[in-house]
Amino acid sequence: MNLLETLKGKSPIMPERYKSMPVEELEARVHAVKERMGKRLFLPGHHYQKDEVIQFADARGDSLKLAQLSAENQDAEAIVFCGVHFMAETADILTKQDQMVYLPDMRAGCSMADMADLNQTEKAWMSLMDLFGDTILPLTYVNSTAAIKAFVGKHDGATVTSSNAEKMVSWAFEQKERILFLPDQHLGRNTAFNLGIPLDQMAVWDPILERLFHDCPLEEVKVILWKGHCSVHENFTVTNVEQVRERFPDMKVIVHPECRREVVDLSDESGSTNYIIQTIKNAPSGSAWAIGTEMNLVNRIINEHPDKQIISLNPNMCPCLTMNRIDLPHLAWCLEAIEQGEHLNVIKVNKDIADDAKKALDRMLERV
Ligand code: 13P
Ligand code: SF4
Repeated sequence: MNLLETLKGKSPIMPERYKSMPVEELEARVHAVKERMGKRLFLPGHHYQKDEVIQFADARGDSLKLAQLSAENQDAEAIVFCGVHFMAETADILTKQDQMVYLPDMRAGCSMADMADLNQTEKAWMSLMDLFGDTILPLTYVNSTAAIKAFVGKHDGATVTSSNAEKMVSWAFEQKERILFLPDQHLGRNTAFNLGIPLDQMAVWDPILERLFHDCPLEEVKVILWKGHCSVHENFTVTNVEQVRERFPDMKVIVHPECRREVVDLSDESGSTNYIIQTIKNAPSGSAWAIGTEMNLVNRIINEHPDKQIISLNPNMCPCLTMNRIDLPHLAWCLEAIEQGEHLNVIKVNKDIADDAKKALDRMLERV
């Protein structure tokens, strides 16, 4: 189910009283529920979450780590996912039937995940089969709906995250001659380029125009990139990198691979949120960094490293708006509702979809 479908359904609304509660009271309420529920509750948090929320996370991580932790957790009866919709869906797919997954605000979607729906994907697949025959393996970034993961799982493909994309694309090329990479064209292009595939052998499938754009003869196409992107990372530009180079000649630039190819190309380093965190942590005191990723994380890294000069690659950058929907009032409300036996904000993936999506996730998890 994508975000639009969720919103069309009955999405519970947080009672007004939580909005006007003082921060101290909200924090005390979250602490109290965590204390009372103990191991029956698990709260994973993505690195892009706000400080007011991530402070309560039992584990924080990038998409890969959070998927692995969800798969490993056998104890918690309630998993309250502090992240976005596709992450909570993944947690539901990987946990046992009787474990319940909750998203504190059902409006916390991901614009990139919503750029590929099942209908579009099935149409694309038919056209691509006509053009290339049975030579394509589909891969999807975990930033996709469960239905897309299921489609990929059904067609022998796998999911990837930003920290294992190279490994998974290499694996895919051992299975088939070419790949279809959904839904983030930039992660797909950056990954394939790092593996030595020339840019002109990468075609782009436009799901709106239902057309394949390619610069080389069809038989030479190796990678078919879905025309999707992250609305946060697309805001880092070549001009941003040039300005940093001009103003701070000694500053290193590190970006997330959801950034455009030209930006990654001009940067010194690129990698997942976890890679960015570890690189800055291991960098010498006094070093200078411009970071191209979501702003909640950049601000946290700045605060954690007062001995380093750190800025956002784009000075006008904002946080990911949908990640930011998970805030302290929604967290307190969701937790108290769970304790009171009200099952609001439940993320439950339909069993048929979950079974196929799990195949795609398992193919990734057994290789990383
Ligand atoms: P990672 O944490 O896997 O790098 O993903 C970034 C992201 O965009 C999550 O939505
Ligand atoms: Fe989606 Fe981009 Fe936000 Fe990640 S940062 S949740 S990819 S919109």
